[in-house]
Amino acid sequence: MTDELNPVLDHLRNDSAGALDRLFDFLRIPSVSADPAYKAGVARAADWVCDQLRSAGLNAAVRPTAGHPMVVAKHEGPPGYDGPRLLYYGHYDVQPADPIDLWKSGAFEPVLIDGPRGKRIVARGACDDKGQVMSFIEAFRAWIKVHGTLPCAVTILLEGEEESGSESLEPFLEANKIDLKADACVVSDTGMWDIETPAITTNLRGLVYVEITIHGPNKDLHSGLYGGAVPNPINVLTSILSSLHDEKRRITLPGFYDDVKEVPTRIQEQRANLGFDDAEFLGSVGLTNSYGEADRSTVERTWSRPTCDINGIYGGYMGKGAKTVIASHATAKVSFRLVADQDPHKILKTLRAFVTAKLPKDCRAEITEFGVNRAFQVPDGSAFLAAAERALGRVYGRNAVLIGSGGSIPAVGAIQRILGAPALLMGFGLDDDCVHSPNEKFEVGCFDGAKKSHAALLAEVGRMRL
Ligand code: BES
Ligand code: MN
Ligand code: MN
Repeated sequence: MTDELNPVLDHLRNDSAGALDRLFDFLRIPSVSADPAYKAGVARAADWVCDQLRSAGLNAAVRPTAGHPMVVAKHEGPPGYDGPRLLYYGHYDVQPADPIDLWKSGAFEPVLIDGPRGKRIVARGACDDKGQVMSFIEAFRAWIKVHGTLPCAVTILLEGEEESGSESLEPFLEANKIDLKADACVVSDTGMWDIETPAITTNLRGLVYVEITIHGPNKDLHSGLYGGAVPNPINVLTSILSSLHDEKRRITLPGFYDDVKEVPTRIQEQRANLGFDDAEFLGSVGLTNSYGEADRSTVERTWSRPTCDINGIYGGYMGKGAKTVIASHATAKVSFRLVADQDPHKILKTLRAFVTAKLPKDCRAEITEFGVNRAFQVPDGSAFLAAAERALGRVYGRNAVLIGSGGSIPAVGAIQRILGAPALLMGFGLDDDCVHSPNEKFEVGCFDGAKKSHAALLAEVGRMRL
């Protein structure tokens, strides 16, 4: 294996400028999936990345869906190959760039700048997820260039709706179950421990996201003439929202914790050894104290405990100065991060009953659901996990750590459930990459490490027989 991998790694090193150029071209395409104004940009990104897969030497096609298209590509491995097939999942869409005035350079005008850990690429999607998608495409390109083939069979599935709910994903997986069949699903859309220490993410939180609108009077009212005698939708909404947590900051929905498990001792010990630094984690966002569910550590709070957050709230007068008004309606965007076996549908049902039960007479609640997904846990003892640990150990010269993450990737659970392919989350982002924020960046060092790690993983899997 060493003999086969080394020239591939050399090639990646020699072609690093070319790889950066290609990533920059990708980053220039504004593929914001949430905003219909960018529909053409999203389509262009799909075509562009499809062409990249073709030029790397794979069979690739853009496949339409009811929403944004999927990009599917395949390579059958060496002649007569009978080992495992990997499904690579990633997303070519990005989050909106706003607030744009906080960007130091254009969100879709990538730049290479100096940072404390070497050069970094700054642009929307640099880390999440275009940089990471290009890292495995570059690994494919290098393998095929050097050896004329990949060492194992792969299928690639890139979606364009990850940042906006992945609505077309499940129907697409159902309709293409056979075509997309694979033994494991590799995802590069998570983080490392630090720039020198690779990580494999073994659990992700799930998500329930809703918008709640409380309707009261049939028009906005003078708060002097009516105030005190009518339900104020903003008062009603905020009172319902604040009753979602108790004084220990636990969530009050009945049965909410029924399916939440304590972290097994083995994992607790492993995590204690990681030496997670609260001060650093909080300091980088201008805070000093971890704040959340009572008697839990920061790592537990973000990786293994469910949450409820209000992500947006609006209603009434929001202009300059004062206006004495009672609004006819008020809205909040509310999300729950889920863990372990929590059932998103059960939580939605309880939430509806909870809100309805607290409504004063004459008020009405409208609850819109924005897609749900369950938490994810890597199956124990996976041979693919071991292969990834070997690949990362080889490239970084130190062991990968197993971490959890508070984020969500809806596709991971869906691919596991519908295609039966267990996920392997090998990501290369850093905590300070500003994903979803202004000035998103990806360290060139992370990009290089990611390309090499993917090249090494392909070699490992090529030698596996199930
Ligand atoms: N790549 C992220 C999730 C992530 C980031 C996981 C870092 C682990 C470490 C993904 O693109 C994302 O932003 N997911 C959303 C899901 C949502 C839009 C359905 C999230 O977690 O909020
Ligand atoms: Mn992502
Ligand atoms: Mn994201």
